[in-house]
Amino acid sequence: MNVLARLRSAFAAATPEGADPVAFASAVRASTDPKFGDYQANGCMAAAKAAKINPRELAAKVAELVDLAPLADRPEVAGPGFLNVKLHDEFVSESLSTLLNDDRLGLTPPVHPKTVVIDLSSPNVAKPMHVGHVRSTVIGESLARIFSALGHTVIRDNHLGDWGSQFGMILWGWKHERDEAAYEANPVAELARLYRSVQAHIRAAGSLIEKHGKVLALETQDKKADAEALFNNTYDGTGLSLADVHRVVGKGREVAEEARQETARLHAGDLENRALWERFMPNCLAALQTVYDRLGVKFDVQLGESFYDSMLADVVKDLENKGLAVPSEGATVVFIEGSKAPFLVRKSDGAYNYATTDLATIKYRVDRWNPDLVLYVVDHRQGDHFKALFDVARRWGYDKIDLEHVAFGTILGQDRRPYKTRDGDVIGLESLLDEAVSEALKVVTENSPELDAAEQARVAEIVGLGAIKYADLSQNRLSDYVFDWKKMMAMNGNTGAYLQYAYARIRSIFRKGETTPEAIRAARPAILLSNPLERALGVQVLRFPETLELAASELKPNILTDYLFDLANKYSSFYDGCPVLKAESPERRDSRLALCDLTARTLRFGLNLLGIEVVERM
Ligand code: ARG
Repeated sequence: MNVLARLRSAFAAATPEGADPVAFASAVRASTDPKFGDYQANGCMAAAKAAKINPRELAAKVAELVDLAPLADRPEVAGPGFLNVKLHDEFVSESLSTLLNDDRLGLTPPVHPKTVVIDLSSPNVAKPMHVGHVRSTVIGESLARIFSALGHTVIRDNHLGDWGSQFGMILWGWKHERDEAAYEANPVAELARLYRSVQAHIRAAGSLIEKHGKVLALETQDKKADAEALFNNTYDGTGLSLADVHRVVGKGREVAEEARQETARLHAGDLENRALWERFMPNCLAALQTVYDRLGVKFDVQLGESFYDSMLADVVKDLENKGLAVPSEGATVVFIEGSKAPFLVRKSDGAYNYATTDLATIKYRVDRWNPDLVLYVVDHRQGDHFKALFDVARRWGYDKIDLEHVAFGTILGQDRRPYKTRDGDVIGLESLLDEAVSEALKVVTENSPELDAAEQARVAEIVGLGAIKYADLSQNRLSDYVFDWKKMMAMNGNTGAYLQYAYARIRSIFRKGETTPEAIRAARPAILLSNPLERALGVQVLRFPETLELAASELKPNILTDYLFDLANKYSSFYDGCPVLKAESPERRDSRLALCDLTARTLRFGLNLLGIEVVERM
């Protein structure tokens, strides 16, 4: 049961004349301070202001009118016109009793179940996955789990970048610089090396063009002497001669152009490139799969960009027929109102691109699943692309589905720059996961010397991966965050390890008390809430369904992490203030054990929705 939703509909029914019931209801929130009750209705101030009447008087009227039974009594007017709602103890206690034997912890099927497609992870294959891919994968997976837990139908789609310009680079690298033996030994590492080498050629040229742009411009104007003089006066720290600069720039330009042609040949169906693509792909996919297995992520479909290739020409034709796509400077574009940059759907060389593919993907997803909602869990830097894409899609006729860019910020190093290794490489995802596990092993061996080595290793894997996931999910996804091993492994604070530890501690109480959660559930003890710490914990447990609804509607897993952290803290205060096994009576003991069990199950369920496992001992 969603307590907040029930209170909101009660307040909606008591909306003052002239005010909007939706706005009035949505101003009902959980209180941040127990002084103000469990919930607050804050809509009277705005309604009174609009009607030019006294807000306290209006609040008193609403309090008179609103029917909160059986959840709560009449709300209390406070401050300038707040209404404080305190849930009835009997209601809390009875609801908790029901939850004791409810595997779903109060979640009920939605009135309007939705079909949600989640576009997540979606790395460019043939490039090693890096730390940035953690965010799309972990946030996307968590949203998928939250939506399914709420009873919606979820389709996870890994929209792999398996057809883009990086393949042209690898094809070029393969044809000019390959090491067959290295490929046999470790295909993905060799492809990554080739990719990096091609990038290095292009980048070296780029940086010299940047440094010596004026010199090169003078040369094209045939002002050789001026160019040379300027070059000799520019100290660029590289010690290269002008001839060297020409060589590097020439090479970079040549590689870039040839790699572009390799991509074009692949798309045009060139047999050699096609065969190489088919040879590389299974290895690339296998390497990705090891990471996904480790992260516990399963996709319903993995339809990469290549899958849509045959549909692209029709997409552009259709856009042209509808008068949306028009020729512009040899290319084909859709103009976007209020934006200078048009949406390019066919380049001047005839090639279709990322944007065309995303349009074809929308059509395909609608034809196949008819979703209500499509989430694109992608880096915030692609914000402009998605804004334009959604605009074009709406005008193309896809105006009934809700398309959302679930954007996220960058992971930073201690220096507040994008997270890199000491030698400047972007950190590979796998080595990052390994490091997390070995950091966790240190914590586990220190805290739990009694566990045998195999169990310590198993716990470390769960705690290490949990730490990385939790650190990511507990951020407001839009902000950049600093990657900090020490903070994310801490046993105290808003971390995965803290919550896993809270869970394990609760489980140990049952072992110590020589009873089991099953026995307590079967006994159905009355839940006694006379101690405020018991009550605060119980109310927090009841708030699980409304928290998930909120996390889903805002597309923010950190709403769930905040809730779980709060739950663990309330549990900790309860545990310090209320003896469980040494409670003053058997009734109290069983009631408190029931609260322990509900807390443990909520922690486990909640962590599972973040993709994080729990352990019985740590
Ligand atoms: N492959 C892209 C990249 O790595 C992300 C794809 C996101 N999904 C989409 N439908 N555009 O930047």
